[in-house]
Amino acid sequence: MSRYPQRRLRRLRRTPALRSLVRETVLSPRELIQPVFVVEDPQSAGPIASLPGVQRYHLDQLAGEIERLTAAGIQAVLLFGIPKKKDARASAATDVSGITAQAVRRCREAREDLVIITDVCVCSYTDHGHCGVIADESVDNDATLSILAEMAVAHAHAGADLVAPSAMMDGQVAAIRAALDDAGHYETGILSYAVKFASSLYGPFRDAADCAPQFGDRRAYQMDPANAREALAEASTDVAEGADALMVKPALAYLDIIHHVKQQHPDHPLAAYQVSGEYSMIATAGREGLLDERLVALESLTAIKRAGADLIITYYADRVANWLAS
Ligand code: PBG
Ligand code: ZN
Repeated sequence: MSRYPQRRLRRLRRTPALRSLVRETVLSPRELIQPVFVVEDPQSAGPIASLPGVQRYHLDQLAGEIERLTAAGIQAVLLFGIPKKKDARASAATDVSGITAQAVRRCREAREDLVIITDVCVCSYTDHGHCGVIADESVDNDATLSILAEMAVAHAHAGADLVAPSAMMDGQVAAIRAALDDAGHYETGILSYAVKFASSLYGPFRDAADCAPQFGDRRAYQMDPANAREALAEASTDVAEGADALMVKPALAYLDIIHHVKQQHPDHPLAAYQVSGEYSMIATAGREGLLDERLVALESLTAIKRAGADLIITYYADRVANWLAS
């Protein structure tokens, strides 16, 4: 006769070694991507008030930072260039020797085997702060495509491994793929910000990248946080347009989306972006002594991976690598 409970799940939780033996999800520095802010104006380098512990670097500081990151075990960076000059048409964005292109070259010189990914969007380059050019008081989708494509080609030309379009313009992946191929950059891949929600968690980033919209908001191009089915449509269109890898952003509040996109596109690497607001909430609460920053960061990132993310973009990348090594 069987006695209840036959299966005692606590048996496999009894010691650290048993728990480690049956652990299903393990973080590794190899799947973490560090965002790096690079400013053209050296005066703007330094700490970012809204992102405690994160800095903006100028070009001459980049090699040292890459050295520090790779020594910690981080092998991939996502570059955000912040130009001196902004205008309505984002002219600095397509400059082959613009700030992001120069940053790519410096990173490549510093480290031949680094995976260099660039953010492709114009909101840091436009004087109005929107992710595309404006016509009749709204963002003109199709007029923006050629600018994004030209920007991506400039980054590829400088040596980026992957370009990551984040503007949420319809057709941006197809336009970029065609332009890269026409320019002979058929080996440059596209990590698409396929599912990017119009989130209130981007606030700290907008200080860091100086890209807050000067009027209105981004809801006419970024996704409504209430929608999950539409997220699958976004992922499918980007796959059809030739995306090599997909991204869901933000991460922790969108674990269901991460899970669904991974199920729908199991053969595409899926990245999740733990965004600035997610980072700053944990970092600030940690600094205030309200919670243990290290444990909460590791728990959040483990949950993001468990939900289905293969890669995680996080401002904690370098510290996680160090925590995992210690
Ligand atoms: C630019 C861009 C944003 C982020 C990444 N690329 C801001 C935005 O869309 O307003 C957010 C990243 C973060 O919050 O960490 N399009
Ligand atoms: Zn943008």
